[in-house]
This record gives sequence, structure tokens and C-alpha cells, in this order.
Amino acid sequence: MMKYPVYCVILYSLLTPALAGPLDLADVNNGKALVERHCMSCHVAKFGGDGSSIYTRADHKIRSLEALVAQINRCNEGTRASLPPEGLQDVGAYLNQSFYKFR
Ligand code: HEC
Repeated sequence: MMKYPVYCVILYSLLTPALAGPLDLADVNNGKALVERHCMSCHVAKFGGDGSSIYTRADHKIRSLEALVAQINRCNEGTRASLPPEGLQDVGAYLNQSFYKFR
């Protein structure tokens, strides 16, 4: 009896990987635009190029989806970008899809 809903959930997430994670309903294009507007210039100033090596450098800090969400919040607060919650989700989805690829 108790196992049935669990199997349903597992099956559901296997069949619909696009809905399996907390960031998957987010708008990746909006996330990209927000990063370009609010985040990139500082990362570029510190790391050069288009700033993306901050995410991909060998000793980059972020190693899990939870850590990514936490860092986005830290950078958002620290820089007073004041993105709304759905904007933060979009940013997370964009960064994860483009660079981190956590599941
Ligand atoms: C005023 C400068 C500045 C701005 C603006 C800024 N960041 Fe950062 N960010 C940093 C610095 C510096 C680090 C590196 C911290 C470290 O290596 O310990 C960093 C690191 C990160 C990392 C982790 C990279 C890794 O894997 O090690 C993420 C993700 C990130 N920032 C996201 C954002 C987002 C999203 C925004 C915009 C809302 C933003 N940052 C705006 C300075 C900034």
C-alpha cells in the first residue's frame, strides 16, 4: 500500500526529467539576461574573458545545486541586485544548464 505512491513519484520523475528538479520550470533565457545585466561585469573584472571562467575554473567553489542556490543568494544580496525570487530561479536554471550541470 505505502509503496505505491513512491513508485509513482519515481516513475513520474523518470518520465518527465524536465519537471524533476526545483529549477526546471524556470526561464533560462530570462536568467541569462539577468546575469548579463546584474552579475557579469563584476565577474569579468575579476576573472576576465566573458566572466564565465568563474564557474568553470578548476578550483571553482560550487559543487552542488544547493551550494549554487546559496551562492546566487549571497551574490544577489551582497551586490544589492535585489532580484525577485523567480529571477533567482531563472538565474539558477541558466547557470546550471550552461555551466554546472548538476542534477
Ligand atoms: C561585485 C562583484 C560581484 C557581483 C556583482 C556578482 N558576483 Fe558572483 N562572485 C563574485 C566573486 C568575487 C566570486 C568568487 C568568490 C570566491 O571565489 O570565493 C563570485 C562567485 C560567484 C559564483 C560561484 C562561482 C564558483 O563556482 O566558484 C556564482 C554562482 C556567482 N558568483 C553568481 C553570481 C550571480 C548570480 C550574480 C548576480 C546576481 C553575481 N554573482 C554577482 C563577485 C560578484
